[in-house]
Amino acid sequence: MRKKYSYTKRIKQIYKYFQIYRKHSYRFHMRSHYVEKRVESFFNWLTNSKEVTNMTYDITDINKEQLIHFISDVTNKNYAFVKTYLNEITNDEKLKNHIINNTIKNKDQFADNTSYFGRRLGWYMLVRILKPKVVVETGIDKGLGSCVLSAAIKKNKEEGFEGRYFGTELSKTNGYLFSKPYSEYGKIIRGDSVESLKKFTSKIDLFINDSDHSHEYEALEYNTIKNKLSKRAYIIGDNSHESRALYDFSNKNNRNFLFFKEEPLNHFYPGAGIGVSYIKNQL
Ligand SMILES: C[S@@+](CC[C@H](N)C(=O)[O-])C[C@H]1O[C@@H](n2cnc3c(N)ncnc32)[C@H](O)[C@@H]1O
Repeated sequence: MRKKYSYTKRIKQIYKYFQIYRKHSYRFHMRSHYVEKRVESFFNWLTNSKEVTNMTYDITDINKEQLIHFISDVTNKNYAFVKTYLNEITNDEKLKNHIINNTIKNKDQFADNTSYFGRRLGWYMLVRILKPKVVVETGIDKGLGSCVLSAAIKKNKEEGFEGRYFGTELSKTNGYLFSKPYSEYGKIIRGDSVESLKKFTSKIDLFINDSDHSHEYEALEYNTIKNKLSKRAYIIGDNSHESRALYDFSNKNNRNFLFFKEEPLNHFYPGAGIGVSYIKNQL
């Protein structure tokens, strides 16, 4: 005998499916909003980029505005003043051409013929504002940060403020971007960073940690330079989006700590950031 068909049961079932559809169509909508752009950027990168590590990209316009406010806050300078330095590096065609030409000249099979600075824009602005006499960057890779920092030191010198750049690097060959005119403003110290820092005798005004990104090694670098910092020294942690080493160091040593999150433009990489450790109201 055929089962008696229950309309109420059927309607309840349809309603249930409708609710599932509604829930999931919203979830799919959310997916396209947040995920699709990143997936598209990932395939773009797979097909158009040669980079495999330490990737380069521009950051979004709104992120640049956030960065200006961030630098303005940590240096206690006004927005308009800080922005002049962002404009300065953005319009520095000599620096941009230097990066592109040296990448081509060195036939780097893992680098793109582009010149994007990402969060290093913030490093540049800090050097222009602070006018440090000694800048140390640990870990230089191709030398992109070295060029950005030395370009700022070069401009400071043109305005009468002397400064020197020192980059520590484990590899014997890394750093092909760091050539003249930028290499005239500093040098690369080869070998293990902590060992090089132990022997470093000058007072450091700006220290940038970007070498071995393990928490322990990062902390070791900060402890090694602790007594080599000048009174007004700033420290940048390039790993602060993942590590709390600079935050802990700042807490222990009565220093302020702030973090800026980078937002890459049209790139799948979610971005790193700039952790800044500093002593407030010192300028
Ligand atoms: C993330 S990359 C640096 C990127 C660079 N600061 C820039 O602006 O593009 C890390 C670099 O640290 C170097 N490195 C890793 N461990 C190191 C160590 N113990 N001492 C010195 N350099 C190290 C690597 O060889 C690599 O070149």
